[in-house]
Amino acid sequence: MIDSGSKYLILGGNGMLGRDLQAVMQDRDFVSLDRDELDITDVEALKTKILDVQPDVIINAAAYKDTNKAESEEALANEINGYAVGMLAKICRDFGITLVHISTDYVFDGRRRDGYAEEDATCPINAYGRSKALGEQLLVDEMEHVIEGVDLEEGKYFIIRTSYLFGKHGVSLVSKLMDNARKGEKFKVINDQYSRPTYTLDLAKQVKWLVESNEYDSGIYHICNGGSTNWYELAKILLTDAGLDAGLVEACSMSDWKAPAERPQFSVLLNNKLPELRTWREALKEYLS
Ligand SMILES: NC(=O)c1ccc[n+]([C@@H]2O[C@H](COP(=O)([O-])OP(=O)(O)OC[C@H]3O[C@@H](n4cnc5c(N)ncnc54)[C@H](OP(=O)(O)O)[C@@H]3O)[C@@H](O)[C@H]2O)c1
Repeated sequence: MIDSGSKYLILGGNGMLGRDLQAVMQDRDFVSLDRDELDITDVEALKTKILDVQPDVIINAAAYKDTNKAESEEALANEINGYAVGMLAKICRDFGITLVHISTDYVFDGRRRDGYAEEDATCPINAYGRSKALGEQLLVDEMEHVIEGVDLEEGKYFIIRTSYLFGKHGVSLVSKLMDNARKGEKFKVINDQYSRPTYTLDLAKQVKWLVESNEYDSGIYHICNGGSTNWYELAKILLTDAGLDAGLVEACSMSDWKAPAERPQFSVLLNNKLPELRTWREALKEYLS
């Protein structure tokens, strides 16, 4: 049973999502750590720190996140996004700790225009997506592993997939669009890649609510703001709402955009399990306020 008296440990706490997780946990007992205090790939340090903090819930927002660089650093991406998550899950299972792990729409190939449900099989098309899918798989393997004759305390798990994050405390595509527009030069934005932009503060609040509701079973959940869009449409709306010159944005297609990593084209995550969040447009207004 998780409630307002439970103790939280946030990993990756200085990242864009981590900072908003800290903000929503201000009325809770929590410890937040980032890479300089705890490298999650160091299994001994991970175990020692967890035993020291004694959390009821761990939220893992730590990640290797550079999608392009991951193409040439796949082993490192797998260490952080894959094997470290498996080790974390084993520790959580052994000590009956609830584990919330943040994952991504990039575990899918983006070829389905009607979106992806929670239980759809993963099918990543780049190294970052493969590393995140590996983490999901190792987490489930560890948390659902039953050792015969050993009665372990039950630790629940929630794999939270989300997409296109933007937040006040980090660099995102939204913040890069604003920076480009402030320079006053024309720039190109892709108009045929679709997903669901999500405000980190809304995601953080929903994670807290989900864990403390105690109504939901272990499993995979999709948490995104409502609606979907492409980057060109979002850029136009963002710059107009921000009072910047939306005329600086020129549309281009994914095929014109040369990047080391291929991206999923339609990575719309369907939410079939949880109450809907407000739309990304409403969330964007608050982000800008
Ligand atoms: N941003 C998006 O658009 C997006 C979309 C879908 C899903 N997600 C997922 O959402 C989660 C949060 O993303 P975010 O945008 O908040 O990422 P972020 O700002 O890059 O934060 C990640 C944090 O993890 C830390 N970290 C990296 N390697 C670590 C290690 N070995 N041990 C401990 N900490 C480590 C980073 O520290 P350093 O800065 O020192 O590396 C950083 O503070 C991630 O799981 C990501 O995959 C993000």
